[in-house]
Amino acid sequence: MPYSTITGIGHYVPKNVVTNQDLTTVMETSDEWIRERTGIEERRYITAGEETTTTLALEASRKAIADAGIEANDIDFIVFATLSPDYYFPGAGVLLQRELGIAKTEIAALDIRAQCSGFVYGLTTADQYIKSGMYKKILVVGAEVHSVGLDFSTRGRNVSVIFGDGAGAVILEATEDKDKAILATSMHSDGTYAEKLSYMYPGSHGGYFLEKYAIEGFDVDYSVKTNDLGYGHYFFNQDMIDNHRIFPHMEGQAVFKMAVRKFPEVIMESLAKAGLGVEDLDMLIPHQANLRINQFVAKTMRLGPDQVYNNIMRYGNTTAASIPIALSEARDEGKVKKGDTVVLAAFGAGFTWGSVVLKW
Ligand code: ACO
Repeated sequence: MPYSTITGIGHYVPKNVVTNQDLTTVMETSDEWIRERTGIEERRYITAGEETTTTLALEASRKAIADAGIEANDIDFIVFATLSPDYYFPGAGVLLQRELGIAKTEIAALDIRAQCSGFVYGLTTADQYIKSGMYKKILVVGAEVHSVGLDFSTRGRNVSVIFGDGAGAVILEATEDKDKAILATSMHSDGTYAEKLSYMYPGSHGGYFLEKYAIEGFDVDYSVKTNDLGYGHYFFNQDMIDNHRIFPHMEGQAVFKMAVRKFPEVIMESLAKAGLGVEDLDMLIPHQANLRINQFVAKTMRLGPDQVYNNIMRYGNTTAASIPIALSEARDEGKVKKGDTVVLAAFGAGFTWGSVVLKW
């Protein structure tokens, strides 16, 4: 059975820089609050009407394809991780196939819905397809556009200051060389916490789970439920539209507490699967959720500053895009070198979490 290896990598962020100071012009917040709680100094937002999740992914993919020294037409599978697709359907994978100009149909495109863990889930999925021999050259992308779906009023400030737009991509290919390959992967989920970090619209739920589990903290009126025939309900109801309530929801402290537990657990789990320990780890590339989470994890695992790569200061939290952007930058800066043991680790909405151990 072959191993899989990353043969090309690239990332892309939009040119518009939005500083913490910029946010203070539309909501009650401060540079100090955002830096202290999250470590974020600035983030990037797309230019409206010119860029989308798929166009960001396209730029990152082109770089990864060139870096691998292949042509777009050589790709036989696209795995696209995003929580902010261009369309509700079809998925972003087929849109990316079209933008890449891949005309052949001996290709498949799969969208991954695992939020901040999306890239780790995507890479793990692609790794299995390489190992099974079904595909030979897989494009794995994480791309997000958050700036179009945030509440920029003071009411939404706990969420909106955190997220940014961006994309990262890798090409995964088969190899027999265990010294430059993915060695182990782990994926987990726990749906008990589904609503703690969620964006429910457009959706078919109509408040069902909120009632079933008596979940509080959502101030949407679901009384206008049915469609014109009296069945089901609309994705959006009039109350949501009239009151601008269609925004992400985050219980920050619950997320923080679980993240700082699950990161070390899942990193140790995949290292053990690879027959390695924390002493073998050269570089941890964690999902960039919050600098404080990553610092907490580094402290718990006794990792030094050159063993953890962080760039959330410049991009905010780009969910599924954060790991490939960070890995791409770390490689470009010479911080991930040939032969290094690299661990990618993520935790996010769902909750979902996972990790990948690889030799670079
Ligand atoms: N600016 C100023 N004040 C704010 C802001 C803001 N942007 N956001 C919230 N506040 C206020 C609140 O209104 C509250 O005020 P009050 O005490 O008068 O009611 C106060 O700050 C504290 O609010 P909390 O929500 O309790 O803030 P907390 O200290 O928990 O920090 C944060 C919020 C940074 C989100 C923190 O909970 C956290 O880091 N959680 C981890 C979640 C995370 O990182 N999520 C990222 C996405 S998830 C992922 O990728 C895994």
